[in-house]
Order: sequence, then C-alpha cells, then structure tokens
Amino acid sequence: MGSDHRGVREFFAAKADAWDSRYPDDTPAYEAAVAAMSLSTGQTVLDAGCGTGRALPALRAAVGPTGVVIGADLTPEMLRAAVRAGRDRDAQLVETDAARLPVRSASLDAIFAAGLVHHLPDAAAALREFARVARPGARLALFHPIGRATLAARHGNTLQPDDVRAEPNLRPMLADSGWELAEYVDTADRYLALAVRRPG
Ligand SMILES: C[S@@+](CC[C@H](N)C(=O)[O-])C[C@H]1O[C@@H](n2cnc3c(N)ncnc32)[C@H](O)[C@@H]1O
Repeated sequence: MGSDHRGVREFFAAKADAWDSRYPDDTPAYEAAVAAMSLSTGQTVLDAGCGTGRALPALRAAVGPTGVVIGADLTPEMLRAAVRAGRDRDAQLVETDAARLPVRSASLDAIFAAGLVHHLPDAAAALREFARVARPGARLALFHPIGRATLAARHGNTLQPDDVRAEPNLRPMLADSGWELAEYVDTADRYLALAVRRPG
C-alpha cells in the first residue's frame, strides 16, 4: 500500500461506522444522480469509491436483476459497513484502488463516483483507468450530494482554483483521458459532472 493510500484509508476507516448516520437525508440525491445516467436493464455499472454503498440500491434498481453492479473501494472498513447495511445484496464489493481496477478493458456501461476524485492523489490517472474499463459511449458520473462551495464551507474552506472538480480543470482532464464532458452542474445542493466515453 502506498503512503497516499494509507492516509486515505486511515481517514475513511475512522469515519466508516458513522458514515450513513451522518448523512441520513442524501438518498433522494443519490437516486436522482443515478437516474441522470439513464442506465438500462442488464447493463454493467461500477460505483468507484462506493464507501458504505449508498448508491448501490439505486444502481441495482436501474440495471435490474440481470445487470451487474460492482462496488469498489480502497477502505476495508467502508466495505464492511456496506455489508452490515446489506448492500452486498445489490453489488459485488471489491477492495481495490480505483486507479487500478481488476476489471477487463471496455467491459463497463457506466461508472458512478461520488465524493471520490478530490481524494485521489492522481485524478487524471483514475480517469484514464475509468476510460480503459469503459465501453465506447459509456457514461461517467462524478457526483456529490452538495456543491463544491457548500462542501468547502462545511469544512471551513473556500474554493481553490486548482480543484480538479472545477469545470475549467475537469473538462480538459476528461478530454485528455478519453471522456467528453456532457453536463456540468455545481449548485449549492448538487455537484454532477456527466461525461461520455469517446470511441477509440
Ligand atoms: C467521501 S467518501 C464517499 C463514499 C461514497 N461514494 C458515498 O458517496 O457515500 C470517498 C470514498 O472513496 C474511497 N477512496 C478514496 N480513494 C480511493 C481510491 N484510490 N480507490 C478507491 N476508493 C477510494 C474512500 O475509501 C471512501 O470510501
């Protein structure tokens, strides 16, 4: 485990048990974000950095019993909390780095990642890995149930110009990684960047 990962794991391990009770009202926001991906029955979808699996029931509902839902996270404590919440009924849970997925190339129809990219030491590398495992035309949703400014204020911070989630930074980073940014929303109560995998 790299030192970058050790710090992230320790950070989220300490939060895992209380994660869901800390944010009890977010379910409709996750459902709406999943709906925005326009998934179809039978598709294969990854929740990268799934944490306790808050998006997994909505992802399973979207792809139905014939679909495949994978929840991937670096922090075992988060995945154990997902199991305790019964979310392993909705998805196969995998402990892995989102930037090194044990997934075949061009095998996914969609990738959902909530609250993940700003925790990554190399977000561009993860976006390239997402592009590797995504089929042409696959959708990527980078989501947070509150906007960047609201989140920064919650932590006593202000928005930083080098934030990877900011549109001027994210759009070219996605383009360089094989994605085209199709929609971008960053309001007080929602952050959602939707991108489409370019062919080739
Ligand atoms: C802010 S939490 C969000 C969890 C969940 N997506 C949600 O919305 O409730 C970020 C999650 O990303 C995971 N994470 C951070 N870096 C990761 C990486 N390199 N690969 C996979 N998961 C990672 C953390 O363990 C944590 O569970």
